[in-house]
Amino acid sequence: MRSPDFAASMPPTPSAIASSSCSHCSDVRRTATKVRSVNPAQFYNLLNPWGHSDDFYLDLVMHAETVVDIGCGTGTLLHRARETGHRGRLIGIDPDDDMLAMARRRDDIEWQTATASDVRGVAADLVTMTGHAFQTLASDDDLTSSLRAIVGSMAAGGRFAFETRNPMVQPWTRWDEEFTVSDDRGDTLTVTRQVVSVQDQIVTFDETFSIPTLSEQKVVRSSLRFLTVDNLSTALRSAGLVIEEQFGNWDRSPVTPESPEIITIASTPTAG
Ligand SMILES: C[S@@+](CC[C@H](N)C(=O)[O-])C[C@H]1O[C@@H](n2cnc3c(N)ncnc32)[C@H](O)[C@@H]1O
Repeated sequence: MRSPDFAASMPPTPSAIASSSCSHCSDVRRTATKVRSVNPAQFYNLLNPWGHSDDFYLDLVMHAETVVDIGCGTGTLLHRARETGHRGRLIGIDPDDDMLAMARRRDDIEWQTATASDVRGVAADLVTMTGHAFQTLASDDDLTSSLRAIVGSMAAGGRFAFETRNPMVQPWTRWDEEFTVSDDRGDTLTVTRQVVSVQDQIVTFDETFSIPTLSEQKVVRSSLRFLTVDNLSTALRSAGLVIEEQFGNWDRSPVTPESPEIITIASTPTAG
């Protein structure tokens, strides 16, 4: 099961976080001669195996003709859509070139290095932000400009599906941990995660990635925003989106103070 996903990584436990393997916010500390870089994206799929959330989004993708997956990461969702027989236009965008390098293993999907606020004029039937990518829109400006761009990229009646973690359950109180994972090349990655601050809906945490055979470690600082249901409604309404459905978990149960997620499907008004 793939519930939470962290930055570039994710704990191998079913209780994790998500953020981004944002190379733009990383700080590489070299302690000796480098042979290969520590590349968390190399381990992303291993740390984030296919799960209930992916089944939820895949069903939406398979029923849409033109799909934009924003913050697509390594491209898992769109890869699976093609493998499952999707014949329409699939576009994955992400600001992280290391993640996109994994996605580009398929060339029958369009890949763009971009942020949510950069997406333009696609007339998408469906826009997705999966793996809690929506929470990377941390500032008011980024949230507003990204939602405006997302709406601008949607066809009339198009849908925007995404999830954000429920702040009521304060998941960050369980985020501090260290874990190790090995890939099929024999590389072992150790991830240490530590929450740095929780302030004004923004949780900031550091993840330190290290591979024993490499003489460097990579520290990624990420900030994720935790909007309440009410905040989210206001932001979507201001952007011209209408909430069609909202769930508290991948089994489509309602949002409650205890549910882990706020899963939203919103739409643009239909023409006329
Ligand atoms: C936890 S990953 C999720 C990846 C993928 N959606 C998945 O479910 O596996 C979050 C992704 O959001 C991307 N991201 C970070 N900031 C972003 C932004 N402003 N706009 C779009 N994507 C962003 C990161 O590069 C990262 O690939």
